[in-house]
Amino acid sequence: MIQSYFKSTDKKFALLNNDVFSVLPKFDFEFDMVFADPPYFLSNDGLTIKNGKISSVNKGSWDKSQGLDEINSFNRKWLNLVREKMKPNATIWISGTSHNIFSIGQILLELDFKILNIITWEKTNPPPNFSCRYFTHSTEQVIWARKEAKTPHYFNYELMKRLNEGKQMKDVWRLPAIAKWEKSCGKHPTQKPLALLTRIILASTQKGAWVLDPFTGSSTTGIAANLLDRRFLGIDQEASFLDISRARKQEIEDSLIKERIMSKLNLSNFEDQIVSNIRLGKVTELQLEYFANDMPNII
Ligand SMILES: C[S@@+](CC[C@H](N)C(=O)[O-])C[C@H]1O[C@@H](n2cnc3c(N)ncnc32)[C@H](O)[C@@H]1O
Repeated sequence: MIQSYFKSTDKKFALLNNDVFSVLPKFDFEFDMVFADPPYFLSNDGLTIKNGKISSVNKGSWDKSQGLDEINSFNRKWLNLVREKMKPNATIWISGTSHNIFSIGQILLELDFKILNIITWEKTNPPPNFSCRYFTHSTEQVIWARKEAKTPHYFNYELMKRLNEGKQMKDVWRLPAIAKWEKSCGKHPTQKPLALLTRIILASTQKGAWVLDPFTGSSTTGIAANLLDRRFLGIDQEASFLDISRARKQEIEDSLIKERIMSKLNLSNFEDQIVSNIRLGKVTELQLEYFANDMPNII
């Protein structure tokens, strides 16, 4: 059994305070979907503009680059471990920028993943470029890949189309960067917005699915998963980040706060749509199996 840092009473949200490399091999469980926001290795003592003030780009010692070989070996190691913990039909989403995304893409191909899409997340409110020697950096990439070339994956095509006013959703997503209200439980230096994670989860999982985030930070992935009735396991080596995660989970246990967040994210309608699909009998056998599974071997 693996000792958890936190396990919610509804059993839908668990956190492990460990190094991903030592804890992942101990799991006896396969997940339906993985979202990973690994270190981008961009903390190079450079400067940026944050809230109108000059500030350092450094995020923490975990984000310092030790060179290309180190970046490649870090990415190869965690992707290999995570692949082992994915169901045959599972998919993985990995976010990055030029600092790490080429390494990730190359290693995904080496490990026989099939790349499905490379999403460009265009931030509607990026910080201005400080040096004025480049175009404003306003995008991040999110690679979506499936574990096996020949095993079909789940994609909620219809829902994505509906979210996009009846037109096929493209691989460029215009979404704002993190909003102030999302930091009510404390600050993580690289917290992802809920709008990005809820879209990812709605696109690639069904209700009850198990979602893994091996670099969970403040657990935006877990909060999005639970808001949409999916289950979640997050890993981070820094306890202070897991404290923010726990507080965020406790926050959404208050139904009024949960409702407020859902309406800020414009999610209430889409959630209803999913529920009505289930009422119409569109629940697959696979989905029923999800509900039967319990937590991974974690106490
Ligand atoms: C980019 S942040 C993730 C932020 C997260 N997506 C959020 O919304 O808050 C990456 C996280 O990975 C964690 N981390 C880095 N190396 C790790 C390792 N070897 N094992 C576990 N966690 C690690 C860091 O502590 C950091 O919180």
